Amino acid sequence: MPRPGFRFPDGFHWGAATSAYQIEGSPLADGAGPSIWQRFAHTPGMMANGDTGDVACDHYRRYREDVQLMKELGLQGYRFSINWARVLPEGTGRVNPKGLDFYSRLVDALLEHGIAPNATLFHWDLPAALDDRGGWLNRDSAHWFAEYAEVMFKALDDRVPRWSTLNEPWVVTDGGYLHGALAPGHRNKYEAPIATHNLMRASGAGIQAYRAHGKHEIGVVFNIEPKYPHSDCAEDLAATARAHAYMNQQFADPALLGSYPPELKEIFGDAWPDFPADDFKLTKQKVDFVGINYYTRAVVKHDPNQYPLQASPVRQPNRTYTETGWEVFEQGLTDTLTWFRDRYGDIPLYITENGSAFYDPPVAENGVLDDPLRTSYLRKHLGALHKAIAAGVNLKGYYAWSLLDNLEWSLGFSKRFGLYHVDFATQQRTPKATAKLYAQVIESNGAVLDEDA
Ligand code: BGC
Repeated sequence: MPRPGFRFPDGFHWGAATSAYQIEGSPLADGAGPSIWQRFAHTPGMMANGDTGDVACDHYRRYREDVQLMKELGLQGYRFSINWARVLPEGTGRVNPKGLDFYSRLVDALLEHGIAPNATLFHWDLPAALDDRGGWLNRDSAHWFAEYAEVMFKALDDRVPRWSTLNEPWVVTDGGYLHGALAPGHRNKYEAPIATHNLMRASGAGIQAYRAHGKHEIGVVFNIEPKYPHSDCAEDLAATARAHAYMNQQFADPALLGSYPPELKEIFGDAWPDFPADDFKLTKQKVDFVGINYYTRAVVKHDPNQYPLQASPVRQPNRTYTETGWEVFEQGLTDTLTWFRDRYGDIPLYITENGSAFYDPPVAENGVLDDPLRTSYLRKHLGALHKAIAAGVNLKGYYAWSLLDNLEWSLGFSKRFGLYHVDFATQQRTPKATAKLYAQVIESNGAVLDEDA
């Protein structure tokens, strides 16, 4: 008797994800303008080991070889992002045909191999020329984004069936404008809410442009990290609610409900402006799907020393943590999906990123690279997805993060998330054991996970 297993619903979509600055290299090639990440990475002291995206995985030149790897995995979809400044070197106005052509060639190569392109318009690499005009603090940024989005839709929507406006706007606000660990490196409580608001206006304006120029699907991608209270005391419960509002609802609420959660006012105090009511007509647009990036959870306690949240995460004893310090907690993925459905309604969902950085041994002489912790992470999280589907969540597909080891932003090349190992000295790619498992998962639509799940 076959055991009731992990087999996923027919038509479930299996993919892998990357982003432009993390893999492409050649950031200024063929007339591209600099992005804020190009500038940030070349600012002394900002990147671990002085790493930059100058070469990264050299994907700009090796994309055909990488599409071949996707084919080997049996990927049905590939989620990548477009470097805005390759296409519009000044961010608005003049289009750079060679930059556009790169993405057009990539899309054609994917289609030749039967892989559906899934394009993200903004994965953090704002054109530097727009940062010079105030970046996300300038209300015009929504129009800049819509102009760029329209260029991309007109060029590629005939071949790209699925688009996202933004990837993880929380990271831009939190890392880019509040704590400064990521580009553009600001640390300003007064700027962060404005950046959030303009990002969400831009996403809305991008979706409106799609309705005028596109024929397929568009959505937006949020990182959701569920928050669990450290104790039942009122202070910890309130801290948990703040952390949840700050990270998870700050972005999904204006996009899907047309409002902000009240905790944001409590967190930011006089730095939280009263935004014009009309703006929410722009932020709230009908989406065809939402992408959720899930990596971990946080257990939260009240902490008056943490600015401005007054909440901090509590490390859990006897649990596995990844190299980025994230607890492996697959139940959080099930909880995230059911919470999202319950709060925002029955929107088609994709997991657009999920994965783990662990220390990898060197590739053995026989070409084998065993990565058991990552393999276990994948198995557990696919099990958690299966539970969510059984609970009625409208989950359409899964994209593993990431196809390749790549530049982990300001952590440089020190953290490896790839299904394929990359030797950054030689650009040699080697499949890890997790890649082999993932290929079997795709081939069997999850049935292989029955064996020892
Ligand atoms: C981002 C990726 C990043 C990954 C792992 C997500 O926050 O979208 O760009 O590499 O998580 O940190």
